[in-house]
Amino acid sequence: MGPPNDGGYTRRYAHIVGWGYEVPAKVITNHDLEQIVETSDEWIRSRTGIEERHVAADPKETTSSLAVIAARRALEVADVPPNKIDLIICSTTTPEYSFPATACLVQNALGATNAGAFDLSAACSGFVYGLSMARGQILAGDAEYVLVIGAETLSRIVDWTDRETCILFGDGAGAVLVAASEVPGGILATELGSDGSGGDALILPGGGSAMPTSLETVSSGQHYVKMDGKAVFRFATRVMATATRRVLERAGYTPADVDLVVPHQANLRIIQNSVLNQLKIPEEKVFVNLQKYGNTSTASIPIALCEAIEAGRLKPGYKVVFVGFGAGLTWAACAIDWRTPVEKLDTGWWRNTRRQATYSAAAARSMWKKAVRWVYDVLPNDPEAPIKEGVKEKE
Ligand code: ACO
Repeated sequence: MGPPNDGGYTRRYAHIVGWGYEVPAKVITNHDLEQIVETSDEWIRSRTGIEERHVAADPKETTSSLAVIAARRALEVADVPPNKIDLIICSTTTPEYSFPATACLVQNALGATNAGAFDLSAACSGFVYGLSMARGQILAGDAEYVLVIGAETLSRIVDWTDRETCILFGDGAGAVLVAASEVPGGILATELGSDGSGGDALILPGGGSAMPTSLETVSSGQHYVKMDGKAVFRFATRVMATATRRVLERAGYTPADVDLVVPHQANLRIIQNSVLNQLKIPEEKVFVNLQKYGNTSTASIPIALCEAIEAGRLKPGYKVVFVGFGAGLTWAACAIDWRTPVEKLDTGWWRNTRRQATYSAAAARSMWKKAVRWVYDVLPNDPEAPIKEGVKEKE
């Protein structure tokens, strides 16, 4: 997955051209957690760097509802209508359902009528895995626009009586639009890795085919995250540095060339041990916002990217690295030659109105399609009907 091969064709590059994020309104501070489990603000701050996290307290806030808002913001920044999207990749460990994919729910809400959509399961590394897939689709000439989303409602799978995990996680979603371009730069190289031998270090055991949901799995709490924190910590500090070095090599950069690192926001000590100490990348080049959000898993890098842009920490011409690790065990990094202007787009009333109209039309289209399906369901049973319908669609 190095730089693209020309092969006699016009070179294509994959640039991030839009970005957006959303977090639930409800904030839970370390002091709030002191009321729930035996912990202290001092312990959480000193061991993790986390001060507070956002959680989806309203049942209407779900992984897809957060993802849709983040995605709409990314499209707004890019000024690209939903019907131009070729593919939607939603990385999540807390999908709305086992199936259908959360990406399909996003596709429906956006009215992305020309997009394929699927979910990607690589835990906290998933967003960077998604970027790698998006880059591949674009360089192969199979897509012009790919929407990559990282979205989580981890609060729904956390055991709020387990002080070793409940203090770590938060909810949120981040999205980027990746676009094909002939402008050199963009996502130059990616590095993906896995080690399934460590799968049990971070796992949600219940609800899958190994342990289908039953009274026993629920009463023994198998539907909650189980984590060996120390094992994950050791693994993370090792792979964050290795993955960053490898991806920089592929992109033809050294750690000294890097202008900004956006690491997975799990634990400040992991970032310090790996990025600062092992790679010797100075603090001012590393963006950290985990104090406000905790570990939002696959959403953490895109949320941090958006905040880095808002804070003026990212400019065109910067060499940027995203690096993450997570359950699987997995790790992923990508090196970006950032070219997209980061000034806020003057949206204007016309653009806003047009966008709102697009989303209202998407909702109407969705209802219409549901109604048509319902009509087919209630029509007298004609065994030929599905065949005719299929043939008709293909014509
Ligand atoms: N409050 C107070 N004390 C606590 C808490 C808490 N919330 N949690 C654990 N302790 C106690 C332990 O019981 C232990 O007590 P003991 O010495 O009497 O046995 C003591 O604090 C030290 O515990 P450690 O586990 O050694 O603490 P450590 O410094 O390793 O920090 C932590 C624990 C924060 C979980 C750390 O190991 C870590 O961050 N690991 C990585 C986790 C991670 O990033 N997971 C997400 C991966 S990404 C994804 O895919 C979702």
